[in-house]
Amino acid sequence: MSRNILVCVAWPYVNSEPHLGHIAGMNVPADIFARYHRLAGNRVAMVSGSDMHGTPTALRAVDEGVKPEDIAFRYHDVWSDCMQRMGFAYDLYTHTHTKIHEEVAQDVMLTLDKHGFIYEDTQLMPYSETEDRFLSDRFVEGICPACDFDGARGDQCDGCGRTLDPSDLINIRSIRDGSTPVFRETTHLMIKLSAFQEQLEKWVRTKNDWRPNVRNQTLGFLNEGLHDRAMTRDIEWGVPIPFDGYDKKRIYVWFEAVIGYFSATKAWAIESGSEDDWKEFWHNPDAESYYFQGKDNIPFHTVLWPAMLMGYGGLNLPTDVVANEYLNLDGQGFSSSRNWAVWLPDYLERYDVDPLRYYLASIMPESSDSDFTWEGYLAANNNVLVATLGNFVHRTLTITTRNFDHKVPEPGELAPQDQSVLDACEQTLDDVANSIETRHFRRALYEAMELARVGNRYLDAEEPWRTVKSDPDKAAKTLWTALNVISTLRTVFYPFIPFSCDKIHDLLGFDGATATDGWQKRPVEPGSSLPSPKPLFRKLDPEIVEQEQERLLAQQSDN
Ligand code: MF3
Ligand code: ZN
Repeated sequence: MSRNILVCVAWPYVNSEPHLGHIAGMNVPADIFARYHRLAGNRVAMVSGSDMHGTPTALRAVDEGVKPEDIAFRYHDVWSDCMQRMGFAYDLYTHTHTKIHEEVAQDVMLTLDKHGFIYEDTQLMPYSETEDRFLSDRFVEGICPACDFDGARGDQCDGCGRTLDPSDLINIRSIRDGSTPVFRETTHLMIKLSAFQEQLEKWVRTKNDWRPNVRNQTLGFLNEGLHDRAMTRDIEWGVPIPFDGYDKKRIYVWFEAVIGYFSATKAWAIESGSEDDWKEFWHNPDAESYYFQGKDNIPFHTVLWPAMLMGYGGLNLPTDVVANEYLNLDGQGFSSSRNWAVWLPDYLERYDVDPLRYYLASIMPESSDSDFTWEGYLAANNNVLVATLGNFVHRTLTITTRNFDHKVPEPGELAPQDQSVLDACEQTLDDVANSIETRHFRRALYEAMELARVGNRYLDAEEPWRTVKSDPDKAAKTLWTALNVISTLRTVFYPFIPFSCDKIHDLLGFDGATATDGWQKRPVEPGSSLPSPKPLFRKLDPEIVEQEQERLLAQQSDN
């Protein structure tokens, strides 16, 4: 039975170009998951886009002396171009500065109010006397009252992950000029988070298959007790508030950005011509929804957003919040401000997509932080993609086309060792499916690559290059079997390295496309023709490691 799977990817702030740290923990796993489910015959909607209204964007605009929308659209264009070039197959990649998003966000706010979960309150908010304005969220910094981390921001602490209000910060200062803001009274709309305490606790306790960090962090926040929080801000850049007296204020960016998942599903349905299709993903109680993101996003997706959904009523809660730890670069955290980053547009100018997709999936920070190094990238490309997967495919196809007149050989009756390789194909299909289903992406990739290793060992043992002379019938069995392994590899690798799998598809002389072939070992038909083999991957010169390290250092000194 076909399932409805909503794949939600965190919406990046558009104050810089994407770097590898951004995509490793959200876009890469989400795309693997979505591609797998489409192949498995499920109905998938994968949505995301740019989070246009955050203070990071507003801050950059102040720095450059331009309007926030100039920054937001500039980087939105770069991001969406990169998403497409990376092969991240969104059903809709949009942004939050659209009419439909504004309408849906306002409707959510009005509905929460109608249901009694919004109230007005005066709050003390930091006000800069040097700049003559309120400083919200990331405009201020200070010490976290919970973990003492110095550098916590007005919305969240990066030390412990807690969500904060500016008034929580100790030694609060403006990040613009270091001055100490005063606290002034201002009126805001509050969400009654406290009303959802019990319901949320109950719900999270049922989530036994969530990653331990996500579940434990969330239960930890809930244990401390939920406080009502302001959902509006004294800023000009953002979604207008549908209440009288609020025309000088805007909706708090986190409140409206999470609504993006919902508004984007609606926008996708409208654009695809079946306006009501979003209901299959949000109202149908059997639909599943998966949220991919970095660990700093956890409380917004496991507390704030579910509370909003409960308050709105009738919409599905997240099935899983798949948060990853961080990817570092050569042992240090990616940093846009220090220019310590491999920028995606730069990468794409110099290298191919699939080696990056492969390497990032192989080091995905699923349970702890992990490290991108150019040595690691080189080894993944040369020793695994080229030497293991590429080599197996290439030598099988070369021997076959040379000796069997560019045709798939007729296998006749298989020997036990051939049959056991075919069994391994079926087993791999099951294992990889199960690992992806349970969001163990590294394990899934490893299991897929194991099948290429099985294939290589099988060729080494059966030596078809030798038997093709001494015992052509045996060689035919071996090569036919190996071609079926290649066909299976095409399927199990498709979620990870789709461009290469499309090439494998063509090299097998298949018609149609991998994407529509289903999660199966598509049989290789004896007698069908095979084109001339071409290598799948490019071997890289080991010198790239030093070149790239130098480039990183040069990039920093330019900064
Ligand atoms: N813009 C946020 C960040 O980069 C993520 C927003 S995810 C959303 O951390 F769900 F709120 F949109
Ligand atoms: Zn903290």
